[in-house]
Order: sequence, then C-alpha cells, then structure tokens
Amino acid sequence: MTIANELNDGAEGITRTRGGEGVPEGARGGQRPPFADLEANLKLLSAEGRRRSLERLGGSDFASNDYLGLAQSIELREATADAVNRQVPVGAGGSRLLRGNHAEHEALEESASSYFGAESALYFANGFAANMTLFATAPQRGDLVVYDEWIHASVHDGLARTRAERAVARHNDAQAIDDAIVGWRERGGVGRVWIAVESLYGMDGDGPDLAELDALASRRGAVLVIDEAHATGVFGPGGRGRAAFLEGRENVVTVHTCGKALGTAGALVCGPRVLKEFLVNRGRAFIFSTAPSPLVAAVTRAAIDLCERSDSRREELRRRVDCATRALSLYCGLKGSGSHVVPIVVGEDGAAVELAAGLRARGFDVRAIRPPTVPVGTARLRVALTLNVTESAVESLFQALGAELAARR
Ligand SMILES: Cc1ncc(COP(=O)(O)O)c(C=O)c1O
Repeated sequence: MTIANELNDGAEGITRTRGGEGVPEGARGGQRPPFADLEANLKLLSAEGRRRSLERLGGSDFASNDYLGLAQSIELREATADAVNRQVPVGAGGSRLLRGNHAEHEALEESASSYFGAESALYFANGFAANMTLFATAPQRGDLVVYDEWIHASVHDGLARTRAERAVARHNDAQAIDDAIVGWRERGGVGRVWIAVESLYGMDGDGPDLAELDALASRRGAVLVIDEAHATGVFGPGGRGRAAFLEGRENVVTVHTCGKALGTAGALVCGPRVLKEFLVNRGRAFIFSTAPSPLVAAVTRAAIDLCERSDSRREELRRRVDCATRALSLYCGLKGSGSHVVPIVVGEDGAAVELAAGLRARGFDVRAIRPPTVPVGTARLRVALTLNVTESAVESLFQALGAELAARR
C-alpha cells in the first residue's frame, strides 16, 4: 500500500485502500503484520505533519487548563489529605447503579447544584464522558440538535450515536442557529430542538452572546446546552461560569468540567432533575462504567468551595490577560482574544509546530494545535494563561514570540 492511494478517515484513524474496501488487512493471506494499516495511517499523519507524540511537561506553563493554579494548590493537597484521613476510598469499586454510589458522589452533586444554581447535578469521570453521554442519550428520535461548528469533539462523538437530526451552524452565529431551526420546522420537524454551544471555545478564546442565545431558545422553545469547560471557575459571580445567569431555567443544561480551573477531574452535568434521572437510567457510559473516584469527588467538592472564595485569583488572572494583550500587541503586532485562551493562528501545520518548538527551546511550554482539532489552514499556537506563571513570564513569552516570528519573516 502506498501513501498516495490511501483514503484517510483522519480522526477515526481508519485507512481504506482503493479497490480493497471491506477486506480486513489480516485476511489477505496472513503475510502482513496485524497492524500494517495502522502503521500506514501513522505514516500518512507524519507525511502531513500531523503526527503527534506524548511529551513530558517542562518549561513555564502556557499549555495547561489549570487557569487558577488550583491543581497544585496547598488547599487541594490539604483537602486530599483530609479525605484520606476520613477514609474516603480511592476507587468506587463499581458502577453507581451497583455498589459504586458513594456518599461523596452525592455530597458533591448536592454542593455543585447549589453552587451553580441548578436543580440537579450529575458527576461524570471527565468532560468527554459527560458530553458523550448527554448528547448520545438525551436528544430523541424526531428532535433536532443544532450545534456550533467548532463544538468540542466529545459532543460530536455523542451526536454520532444520536437518533435525533443534526444541523451545524457557523461559529458564534445566532442567526445561523435560528435559520437552521426555522428551516427544519418548515420542512416538518416537530420534535424538540437542542442548541449546543460552548461558553468559551477552548481553541479560540471567544464565546457566544449567551443572552442572545437565551432569547432565541425561548422564542423557538429550544433547550440550550452550554459547555462551560473553559469558563467554569474563571467567569461569573464566584466563578460560576458565563452561563450563571441562566442556571436553574427548565430549558438550560450546563456542563462544568472539573479538570480545568477547578484543578481536579470529572465533570458535572447541571440541569433539571428529570434529565439527571434520565441519564442515570439511559446513559450507557454512566450505567456501564465504574463510578468516578470518591476521593476525587471529595477533593472536587473542596475545589468548588475554594473556587467560590477565589475572587482574588480571578482578579490576578484578569491581570495576566491584560498583560498578555499589551505584550502581544507590543512585541508581535497582534490582537489578543480578551480571555485567558490566546490563539496565535499561524496557518500551516508545519509552521505552527516549528514555532512552538522554538518557544519550547526558550523555556516556554507552548503547544501547536493542528487539524482536526482546529479547521484545516488554521493551525495555531494555543497560549493558555494561568496563575502557574508570573506576569513577567507572560511578558517574556510574547517578547520571545515576537523574536521567533521576526526570524521567520
Ligand atoms: C469544551 C470542552 N468540553 C469538554 C472537554 C472534555 O473535558 P475533560 O478534559 O474533562 O474530558 C474539553 C477538554 O478539553 C473541552 O475543551
């Protein structure tokens, strides 16, 4: 098989050969190694400059999502020690529907629903599983899900299993969402409509006008699902997120991941109690999976409490953002995103990788983000601002970026 005659399905990692569809590699006489097709797929990624590999962390942190620096905080270390002393188990030992439902899961869900202002909360082991389960399970046959074109991969993977109809809308374009709904109704769609957006896009640092989407959802009788992954802890009163003013509405569902600003792991799906009950009864990844660690649930409850008291941390992060905006303009002649996620769009994959390597060689941990994570032709550096770096490190990073960009012109 040559690279040139492969048809590549990209993210799924499946390679088919022209004229050979449907014939498993291993079934062709047993001469080829069992994973020859996977090897060829990886070579294709290398040829396209898109092959990834795992790297140890090193250098100043401009790559993590630990926005408030809580992951390594003394407070969360102490909360962990306290939970260990209280003999909270590390492992749940089973699905929550069997013997895995621990008091710590319920305590976390209780404090999360009251903190975020939702009727109920359901804890998942991570945000990917939460979105996958939510979108695979809740929209029903006859419904329509309209989603932003840049929505996270976990929503796409959930939607791959849905029986509902789907429509994609241009990024941050409420009118495009409205047009999709109106068009679907005109074509005879009668079911429920779901609108799926992120409140802050993790690769772009921008977000939709949530008040406008709320008005749209009310006008069209739609359910609004807002993934707060990159906003939880950072925005809203007490860090409740950009959608805090919408929580508790009967047509609003939010997803708050815990592995980013909260500094732990997991995700909370917040919304009406009936939705929680439905996911508990019908969500396959909830039912057929070991419950998240009770120990992590206990520490996450402490993280929510800490987050609520972290206005000074949020203020400090705001100062890092202001510093980044000034330095980006001064040293690179570029505009910031206005948030703690700063994309530097380079365009070509190889150029983004080289630029990131140049910065890493200077001691700044900055990563290149390439398709399929971002659209083709928009490979970029994703600079994430956290309290793990000082303001002067932020300034130095953009000074170094200016020098790297100048050297490449
Ligand atoms: C918008 C968004 N949603 C969900 C997730 C998944 O969350 P987790 O990392 O907890 O699996 C991510 C992770 O990057 C994300 O950016």
